[in-house]
Amino acid sequence: MKQYDFDTPIDRRGSDCFKWDAPAKEYGLDDLLPMWVADMDWRSPDFVLDTIRQRLEHPVLGYTMPSDAYWKAVTVWLAKHYDIHTTQENLHFIPGIVAGIAYALLCFTLPGDKILVTTPVYPPFLNVPKACGREVVCSPLKIEDGRFAIDYDVFERDIEGCKVFIMSNPHNPAGTIWGEEVLRKVADICKRHNVLVISDEIHADLTLPGHHHVSYSTVSPSAANHSITFMAPSKTFNIAGLGSSVCYIGDEALRKRFFGWLDGLGVAGGNIFAFTAAEAAFAQGEEWQRQMLEYLNTNVQTLNEYLQSHLPKVKAVLPEASYLAWLDFSAYGIPHQELADRFIHDARVVLNDGTTFGVRDHKGATAEIGKNYECCFRLNLGCPRAMLLDALDRIEKALKC
Ligand SMILES: Cc1ncc(COP(=O)(O)O)c(C=O)c1O
Repeated sequence: MKQYDFDTPIDRRGSDCFKWDAPAKEYGLDDLLPMWVADMDWRSPDFVLDTIRQRLEHPVLGYTMPSDAYWKAVTVWLAKHYDIHTTQENLHFIPGIVAGIAYALLCFTLPGDKILVTTPVYPPFLNVPKACGREVVCSPLKIEDGRFAIDYDVFERDIEGCKVFIMSNPHNPAGTIWGEEVLRKVADICKRHNVLVISDEIHADLTLPGHHHVSYSTVSPSAANHSITFMAPSKTFNIAGLGSSVCYIGDEALRKRFFGWLDGLGVAGGNIFAFTAAEAAFAQGEEWQRQMLEYLNTNVQTLNEYLQSHLPKVKAVLPEASYLAWLDFSAYGIPHQELADRFIHDARVVLNDGTTFGVRDHKGATAEIGKNYECCFRLNLGCPRAMLLDALDRIEKALKC
C-alpha cells in the first residue's frame, strides 16, 4: 500500500496562492504563517496532477463537457459515501459552491427576501445574500459540551418569514457534524415554515474517523423535496483552485427550475481540468482520503493536547469534520483588536477573525458583520504537523507578551 506524505512542507509562496501570498502582500511581511483560508498545505494527489498532465498532451483546449466517466465517478461516490442514489439527471456541475449559493438565491428568491443562517458561519453565507439584495437573518448557535448546537426554539423563532435557510453541513467554522436527529428536526421546522434549504456539504468528505456525515436530503422524503445539496472534491483533494463542484436536487420541480435557470444563463459551465480532476479524485481517491483524514485527526489531537498543556484558557470547538477549529481567547482578558494585532505582528500567524462570522446576540435585527465573536479566531490545521506546532508556539508567545 502506498504511503502518502503529509509531513514534507511545500513552499507555496510566490504561487499567487491566496493563503500565503495575500497576507504577505497586505501586511508587507514575508514571515507570516498562514493558518486561515480553507485549503490545505499538502500536495494535491499525484493521480489528480497526472490526469491534468495527461489532458495537456492533447493540443486543443476548446469547450469541453463532463464525460460519462465523470458522471459515473460522481454518482458512485455519492451512493457509496452518502447514500444518495441518483443519476446524472438530478445532478448539475457548478464551478463553485459560493457561486452556486448565489445562483440559487437569485433563482428562488426576490430582493428583500429573508435568508436564514446559523452563526457563527462561513462569512460568504452573510455576504452573498446581502450582495444579492436579500436580507440576512442570523440565528445564533449555542455551545453545548464543547460543540456547536442548534437551539430549536431560537431557530424556530428566527426562521419566521424566511424563504431560504443556508446550512453548512458539516458546519464551518469548527466542522460540526449535525447528525441525523438534528437534521430531521431542522427538516420538520423548515417544512412547517415552507423554507427552501441549501445544504452546503463541501466539508462532508473531510469527516474524521469516528464520525459520520449525514446528507440533509437523505433524512426524510420531505427534506429531499425542499432542498438543494452542494458537494465538491475541492476541499477533500486540495483542488479548490480548479473550481469544481456539483449540485444534487432530488425534487423534479426544483431541479427543472434551477437547472433550467443555470443553463439559460450559461453560468454553470466548467473548465477542462475541473472535470478531469474531479473524475480522478472521486474514482481513485479513497486511499489518499483515508490516509489524509488519519493525519488530520492526529493534528486535531495534537491541537487539543497543546491547548490543554500550554493554553488552557482557550475555549476551543474542535472539528468533527474538516480542518477548522474555533478558538475563543476571551479568558485572556486581551481586547479583540489587540489580540488580532499580536497574532499578526508578534506571532506572525494569520487566523480568521471571529468578528467576520456573524452576530452572536439576536436582537431581532439582521446581521451586522463585525459586531460579535470578539476574541474568537478560526485556525486551519490542514498542514504538516510541524507547521501546526510552530503556529501554536508562536501564538503562545504572543499571548505572554
Ligand atoms: C462551507 C463552505 N462553502 C463553500 C466554500 C467555498 O466553496 P467554493 O470554493 O466552491 O466556492 C467554503 C470554503 O471555505 C466553505 O467552507
